[in-house]
Amino acid sequence: MIEVVPLGGPLGARVEGLDRRMANESAIAKILTRALAEHLLVVIPGAPMTPAETRDFAAAFGKPQTQLLRYKRSGAVPEVSVMVSTLMADGTTDKTAIRAEDWHTDDSYFAMPAKATLLHSIEIPSHGGSTWFCNMHSVYEALPEATRKRIEGRRAIHGYDTPRARNRPSPRTSEEIAETPDVEHPLVRTHPETGRKALYLNPNRLDRIVGLERAESDALLDELADEARKPRHHFGHVWNKGDIVVWDNRATMHRVMIDYPLGEKRIMQRVLIEGDRPV
Ligand code: OGA
Ligand code: MN
Repeated sequence: MIEVVPLGGPLGARVEGLDRRMANESAIAKILTRALAEHLLVVIPGAPMTPAETRDFAAAFGKPQTQLLRYKRSGAVPEVSVMVSTLMADGTTDKTAIRAEDWHTDDSYFAMPAKATLLHSIEIPSHGGSTWFCNMHSVYEALPEATRKRIEGRRAIHGYDTPRARNRPSPRTSEEIAETPDVEHPLVRTHPETGRKALYLNPNRLDRIVGLERAESDALLDELADEARKPRHHFGHVWNKGDIVVWDNRATMHRVMIDYPLGEKRIMQRVLIEGDRPV
């Protein structure tokens, strides 16, 4: 019997008793997608899978799509990317991991950002490397009334890179650059499945608020990010090998803790699930 058990924090639930091969059966897929919209983060323990198995499982949440960076796509199954965040022994680190060290939501630089991301651990370090999640419904609800009024109806420009980000992103090929012009999204979005409002923030990609001077926009974006940085909105997932974790990009942010030993492998398979235009 499949059971959805809340994790007790500000977001997240664990799915127990699921045979992963049955995830696409409509009654089960419905339980999974509802759990995602309600809890924003679902953890499904199990054993490591092949890229094809991961893609098929991910389809329970929607349509798996390819991700921007070609070099990360896994050969025979392009919807699955292989993310290596191992810290290299020469003291350098994987660029994607460094980028993901600050709070972000995935792919907000697209007009139709992925609604969810699935991460599946293939290799994990002996300790450290947890992934943290932030509930952006509760961040929105915690803002002072005056701030909520200031951002009501406001839109913001997201880009692949912005000087506001703490670290620079992975370089793009010219084909990838052509696919990532700046886009505009509402600062507050309404979750299409639950109707709840969420602050749609992305410190890695959000450049400015439309219609405000740069200084005022920077100050307001910093004020909004400060609320999201409060631990009361956060839950940290400590990985076991084989875990599947799916999060809702429409109402969460996430970050990775880069606090694991040099040279110990950290390898994840990753699938993005197609989303809608934020409203
Ligand atoms: C991602 C991401 C964090 C991690 O795949 O989008 O941010 O813990 N990953 O690897
Ligand atoms: Mn991410």
